[in-house]
Amino acid sequence: GLMRELKGIDVLELELKHRLGIKKVIIVPGDGDESPLVKRELGKAAAVCMKKLLQGENIIAVTGGSTMAAVAEQLTPECGDKKLLFVPARGGVGEDVQNQANTICAIMANNTHGKHRVFYVPDQVSPEIYHSLIKEPDIHENLKLIQSANMVLHGIGDAIKMAGRRKSSSEILKKLEEADAVGEAFGYYFNESGEIVHKVSTIGMQLETLEGIPNVLAVAGGTSKAKAIKAYMKQAPASTILITDEGAAGSLVKW
Ligand code: F6P
Repeated sequence: GLMRELKGIDVLELELKHRLGIKKVIIVPGDGDESPLVKRELGKAAAVCMKKLLQGENIIAVTGGSTMAAVAEQLTPECGDKKLLFVPARGGVGEDVQNQANTICAIMANNTHGKHRVFYVPDQVSPEIYHSLIKEPDIHENLKLIQSANMVLHGIGDAIKMAGRRKSSSEILKKLEEADAVGEAFGYYFNESGEIVHKVSTIGMQLETLEGIPNVLAVAGGTSKAKAIKAYMKQAPASTILITDEGAAGSLVKW
C-alpha cells in the first residue's frame, strides 16, 4: 500500500504505540472500509499474535462483532496444544446471532479444539434482576472466569453505528449525539476525550476488570473507525495490543 511506501509500516506501528500509550500496535495493509478482505487479514494477524502469547491454561474473554467473527475464522487447532476456554466477556444478546460473543466463542472453541461457555443474559437489567441473576450458578461461574481471564479479545466500534446496530432507543441515540459520542467498546460509549458518556448496563466484564488482565487484544480497522479507536485508547489499559489496518492507522497518526 501507499502508506508502506511513504513510511515503513514498522515505523508507523512504533509511532502509534507511543502516541496511544499501549504495549504494541500491529498494522495490516489496506483499509477495511474499502475491502472485506482486509478484515480477514486483521483476523489472521490477531490469530498469529494470540498464538505467540498463549501458554499452558488460558481463559479468554471475547466480545462480539464482525471483526471478532473474522478472528474466530482464522483460529486453528495449532492454538489448541494449550488449554483454551473461551468465555463471552459480557452477557448481552442484543446483536444478530453471527455477531454475538456466544456464537463467536463457540466457533473459536471449535476451531482450536478448545472449550467455551455460553452467557445468555439480557442487555439491560434492573438492579433487582441483576442481583438475583448473579446468584445463578452458571452466571456466577462465568463472572468468576471473566475475572480470572488471562486474555481479552475485543472489538471497537463507531458509537452511533453501534447504538443503531443494538437498536437502542431514540432517547439513548439523542443522549449519545448530544454527548458527541464517537467510540464504543465493551458496551461503554466514549467522546473524543475518552470520557465515558454512556454505558449499557449488562452483566460481565467492566472496564475496571480489564486493568488486571495481562493480554488485551483490541482488533479494529477501517478509516471510519479511527476516531473510535483514538477515543477508546484513552481508557485502554497499558497492556493493550492494537491490531488495526493502514486505513485507521493512517488517520490516527495525522492527529
Ligand atoms: O457489540 C460488540 C462489539 O465488540 C462492540 O463492543 C464493538 O463496538 C463492535 O462489536 C465492533 O463490531 P465490528 O467488528 O462489527 O465493527
